[in-house]
Amino acid sequence: MTRGTAGGSTGSPDRAITPAAFDRDQVITDFGRVVYGVTPALQVSVDSTDLAQQVMYGTGAENRIRLTVTGPRGAYSFELALCLPNTDRSPVFLGLNFDGNDAALQQWPIDLLLRRGYGVATAHASAIEPDRLGGAADGIRTVLPEGLDDWGTLGVWAWALSLIRRQLPSFAHVQADKIIAIGHSRMGKAALWAAAQDTGFAAVVSNEAGCSGDALHRHLSTGSGHRPSTGSRHRVKEDIAAITGKFPYWFTPSYAGYAGRDAELPVDQDQLLASIAPRPVCVGSASEDDWADPLGQFQAVLAARELNEGSGPVGFHLRPGDHALLAEDWLHYLAFLDRHLSPGSHS
Ligand code: GCU
Repeated sequence: MTRGTAGGSTGSPDRAITPAAFDRDQVITDFGRVVYGVTPALQVSVDSTDLAQQVMYGTGAENRIRLTVTGPRGAYSFELALCLPNTDRSPVFLGLNFDGNDAALQQWPIDLLLRRGYGVATAHASAIEPDRLGGAADGIRTVLPEGLDDWGTLGVWAWALSLIRRQLPSFAHVQADKIIAIGHSRMGKAALWAAAQDTGFAAVVSNEAGCSGDALHRHLSTGSGHRPSTGSRHRVKEDIAAITGKFPYWFTPSYAGYAGRDAELPVDQDQLLASIAPRPVCVGSASEDDWADPLGQFQAVLAARELNEGSGPVGFHLRPGDHALLAEDWLHYLAFLDRHLSPGSHS
């Protein structure tokens, strides 16, 4: 054991591990154990069916594909939308969406992304596992082995992102070593957890993932007032008590045990960001987004840069405005990735 805070025994809100003590594998083990639930080793097969619904853009084409995952208890299908530019091979953003593929393709600036040479793959998160208490009984888990109850929905979504990531190279023109996990808010949390575990992702973009995603726990002072707002700590709208109160099913059950004790969590989100290095990570925030906690996000980015000792870029951008993934955000991410995923800069 090389990590300074293993087991969460220090209980000090100011604890932070040193770069020398940083152990990526241990961090991932701990996040599975206490936050998202341990990702099980699963044997599933995946088949894809082209739904023959191609839409042509001037800059590329959109296809709909049915992915069928067969596990020990049967087969489960969901739809993937895949937009690819008119180029030989392109990097592809892969992210889950909130409101279905049609809505996502309207909300995201697909033309811009295709014009810039990037593809986009997306699936509706709730079509994989419904985003509600009890959703596990109606989602992809129903075809997986029984007894995976300690696995949070964020963990299931992250696992599904990896499953899709592995399937993408079977489609022509996808650059297999340039698949970028992306997500906004809760989908950003899932994207980070997916990229941390799955080194097949070339990079990750976390847009306003906030609490349990890309914002630090250890500096916060909660609205519930259980810790005074002093020193470097600041008030935020969401802490472990708040998030596990509203979304207990996103996490492994033991996470709620840290409600009111955020600083005692044996891991913190800077470690999740640092565990992705040397692959690039870009965090986006918005000045009015009290939910995502821009200051906490920035603190996580700075701490992650120290932890990974410059072994991989951790970008940050802050724009005016509220909680959303806007074209303006995508422009920042494109600039970041053009720079850090350029040929030869990443293997
Ligand atoms: C809620 C939740 C946040 C989450 C956000 C979102 O506000 O409390 O943790 O990030 O939804 O997904 O938009």
